[in-house]
Amino acid sequence: MKVLGIECTAHTLGIGIVNKEKIIANEMDTYKPPKGEGMIPRDLADHHAKVFSAVLKSALKKAKLKMNDIDLIAFSQGPGIGAPLSVGCTAAKFLAAKYGKPIIGVNHCRAHLEIAKSHSGFDNPLFLYISGGNSQIVLKEKSGYHVLGETLDMGIGNLFDSFSRSIGLESHGSVLEKFSKGGKYIELPYTVKGMNLVFSGLLTHAQKLAKSHKKKDVAYSLMENSFAMTCEATERALFLTKKRSLVVCGGVAQNKRLQNMLMKMCREDNIEFYVAPDELNRDNGAMIAYTGYINRKKSKKQIEKISPIPNYRIDSIH
Ligand code: FE2
Repeated sequence: MKVLGIECTAHTLGIGIVNKEKIIANEMDTYKPPKGEGMIPRDLADHHAKVFSAVLKSALKKAKLKMNDIDLIAFSQGPGIGAPLSVGCTAAKFLAAKYGKPIIGVNHCRAHLEIAKSHSGFDNPLFLYISGGNSQIVLKEKSGYHVLGETLDMGIGNLFDSFSRSIGLESHGSVLEKFSKGGKYIELPYTVKGMNLVFSGLLTHAQKLAKSHKKKDVAYSLMENSFAMTCEATERALFLTKKRSLVVCGGVAQNKRLQNMLMKMCREDNIEFYVAPDELNRDNGAMIAYTGYINRKKSKKQIEKISPIPNYRIDSIH
């Protein structure tokens, strides 16, 4: 079974193709806002509509397939930003109608978890899912996905983006990571509530301090604190659930400092650790195609609601 997956929840338009569980194409085009500006939903939608045809052609060429060879079209149904989600959903419906293919909606967070798990080889790990808009500790059980802890305000990636913009940097975690290298630690707010995280106080305090202290030192301390908070909440969840393996996934999982902190924590606690390759941790179409495939294997039922769900929570999937 060949599944085409469309990812479109935020700044990336990704199209991936899987043949059963094997990824045979994973093409993408990411929108970059003008320097110092945030993401405007309309601009994201315009970008995705503009590049859709080229990314689709490129994915089909890579997979050496034609649209008629595709058995199922999967699209990222949410959570995400309404305008770009609508572009992906409309394109999926158009392709499904034109080529007479079934269509399936996929939860974006679930796709991150499942593609990482499939590469980890772990049977039933605990998940740490961290990205621009989400920071969640997730347990998967037969009854569904359970969010044990999460951010109570903003995603960790949005924390980095907001701080980067406020000090005149491009809003991308990797830019802030490079900029903060060699910085010295300054004390900043540290807020963990059980297994939940709060970042807004940290952001406000860091933005104030950046006016009177070296920006590099503040950036370094902001990243250190937010990662330490994430590790603490994750370690607590590992102990409570008695899980022996951890999979970290999502865009911010690409950060090497965070990977090292989590790896060290797991080593000390004798817990297996896995992080997927960067290509699968950033938003991509292959994870949507893969999750569409495993969904389809379980049920052939055509989805009733073919429309975006911007606030689609992972714990609402059953
Ligand atoms: Fe994502």
